[in-house]
Amino acid sequence: MEGLDSLVRDCEGRGQACSLKELDEIRIEFLGRKGKLAQSMSLLGKLDNSDKPAAGKKANEVKTFITDLLDKWQAGLLAAEKSQTLERFDPTMPGRKPWAGSLHPVTLVMDEICEVLTGLGFEHAAGPEVENDWHNFEALNIPPEHPARDMQDTLYVSDKIVLRTHTSGMQIRSMLGRKPPLAIIAPGKVYRRDSDLTHTPMFHQIEGLLVDTNVSMADLRGTLTVFVRQLFGQGTEVRFRPSFFPFTEPSAEVDISCVMCGGKGEIHGETCRVCKGTGWVEILGCGMIDPNVFKSVGYDSELYTGFAFGLGVERVAMLKYGIGDLRMFFENDVRFLEQFA
Ligand code: PHE
Repeated sequence: MEGLDSLVRDCEGRGQACSLKELDEIRIEFLGRKGKLAQSMSLLGKLDNSDKPAAGKKANEVKTFITDLLDKWQAGLLAAEKSQTLERFDPTMPGRKPWAGSLHPVTLVMDEICEVLTGLGFEHAAGPEVENDWHNFEALNIPPEHPARDMQDTLYVSDKIVLRTHTSGMQIRSMLGRKPPLAIIAPGKVYRRDSDLTHTPMFHQIEGLLVDTNVSMADLRGTLTVFVRQLFGQGTEVRFRPSFFPFTEPSAEVDISCVMCGGKGEIHGETCRVCKGTGWVEILGCGMIDPNVFKSVGYDSELYTGFAFGLGVERVAMLKYGIGDLRMFFENDVRFLEQFA
């Protein structure tokens, strides 16, 4: 009986088992076929018959006690192990977002501009980026010795072939390929030998052209005002400033009230950095088609009139999204691009 009692104390004293493996060893040591309890039980046979029932009962109690004790430890160890794995898995952590592609901001703005203009009835037209001198310059009233060629530092492929310096060559291609009345837009890449903080050798433009009878400067103003307000918001102010382009006469540059400061020229008492305090930002060039341009495509300038406009897509994207650095568009930093998803 004493041996059985000491077995219980012995087992309780082992309460330090710190792994399930150790616990298994203890279980074998006490409850195994050749374990300590089995050994004590084997002594039962040697007792007097009168002592046997009490000793047998005691042995069973000890067995139950030790079994329960070890089960309890095991449960504790299992729980500890589980909570350790759970510590490494925090269900309250925000999940990892799967990567989603997005359209480039230039593409987004180009699509949006085209959508507004096709909504106004302009048809989409596409043409080559490698253009000949005639479409890019000559037919647009820019003869070889014309000083306007200095305005655009041209990338030449060969003597008479250039990378188009603007989308205006599409005015010529569209007029040659169609008959008035016509209204087209031509978006695409253009190239200039220019590279600094605010200029890149390649950028995007959208050309607009409308030719019909009785087209006036008022039509141009009305069309561009509606267009700009759909793009930048109905509250946008529009201003036409006299300018010069060889292929339009009269020509104008269009300013809109600054998208940053709302035309006030300052934000919280500080000069607005987008419009530099003027309250206006330039967004496109435009004008009435010069009769010399009609002459180069064989249109009767006594019968037809028209207007054209051209705008820089990167510039519009910078204004629309408040992007301060042109280079962002070309670096393709994913942290920048993924914001447009
Ligand atoms: N092609 C001109 C430029 O690149 C813009 C323009 C287009 C101006 C059509 C008037 C008419 O600056």
